[in-house]
Amino acid sequence: MFKKIMSVTAGLVLAGGLAACGSDSGSGGSGSSGDITMGFAQVGAESGWRTANTKSIQASAKDAGIDLKFSDAQQKQENQIKAIRSYIQQKVDVIAFSPVVETGWDTVLQEAKRAKIPVVLTDRAVDSDDTSLYKTFLGSDFVVEGEKAGQWLVDNAADSDVNGDGKINVVQLEGTTGAAPAIDRAEGFADTTSADPSIEVTASQTGDFTRDGGKQVMESFLQSDDSIDVVYAHNDDMGLGAIEAIEAAGLKPGKDIKIITVDAVKDGMIALSEGKINYIVECSPLLGPQLMDLAEKVLAGEEVEPRILTEETTFTPEQAKEALPTREY
Ligand code: AHR
Repeated sequence: MFKKIMSVTAGLVLAGGLAACGSDSGSGGSGSSGDITMGFAQVGAESGWRTANTKSIQASAKDAGIDLKFSDAQQKQENQIKAIRSYIQQKVDVIAFSPVVETGWDTVLQEAKRAKIPVVLTDRAVDSDDTSLYKTFLGSDFVVEGEKAGQWLVDNAADSDVNGDGKINVVQLEGTTGAAPAIDRAEGFADTTSADPSIEVTASQTGDFTRDGGKQVMESFLQSDDSIDVVYAHNDDMGLGAIEAIEAAGLKPGKDIKIITVDAVKDGMIALSEGKINYIVECSPLLGPQLMDLAEKVLAGEEVEPRILTEETTFTPEQAKEALPTREY
């Protein structure tokens, strides 16, 4: 709709004998959000983080007066591709999405480019050599998140050798296989913990970023290994699932087995404040306001930074207690 209005406006300006302004997206103009339609292809509803992210996007679109078409891909790439194709068919003004996995997007993104529909990546990146396929990428640095998690373990190595055998056996609950946060959080953690040869990842398996997945994988880890010192979970939900498995095995999470997670959603922060999780690296899901702002700028033909990083912190149990009363999600 935005494009139709803008092409009429451009025609009027030209008819009036003035130089027309435009943008290479074919959508040029003022960026008045009331006329913008955004197609958003969400990953799914796999975690507390994702629920908070969806709420942020829906509320921000409403606040900005952007007409949002929203789809939930249930963590399947083929569903996200279908959703993007349907947005192209519907001639939305801008497409935004959080790619479930990193690879396999070039074809559909080329289709969007041919249709002159700009694409904004949020939360997760695509692995493509062709950066002209999207305007910008808004989200966290997942490698840095993994590094922060690993650094905490290096700094707290003495306390984390729960079995007292001079070795720190870590089991890793990975996010969705092929997803940017799973790849990058594993990489950052491995990089920093390599500074301490007593730290070893003895088992690593995907829990698909879900609570159930984390619980099931942790149950199987516990059955095959009685010397686990630390769980490193790529998100809070899998860490919370691991807590259930650890308690069911008669052990105390946070004491008999240390737990490090990423996200800092409310349930994770509560478990941290209770000492069941030992450390959380924050990953902010509140991307909605910045996303709407970027969409308006892109459609107005303004330059935007190709990479926009979100700000995030880390939490100890004491810091979680302080932050909880005002935590938004
Ligand atoms: O891409 C962000 C990650 O996806 C979050 O850390 C996780 O909880 C979510 O499912």
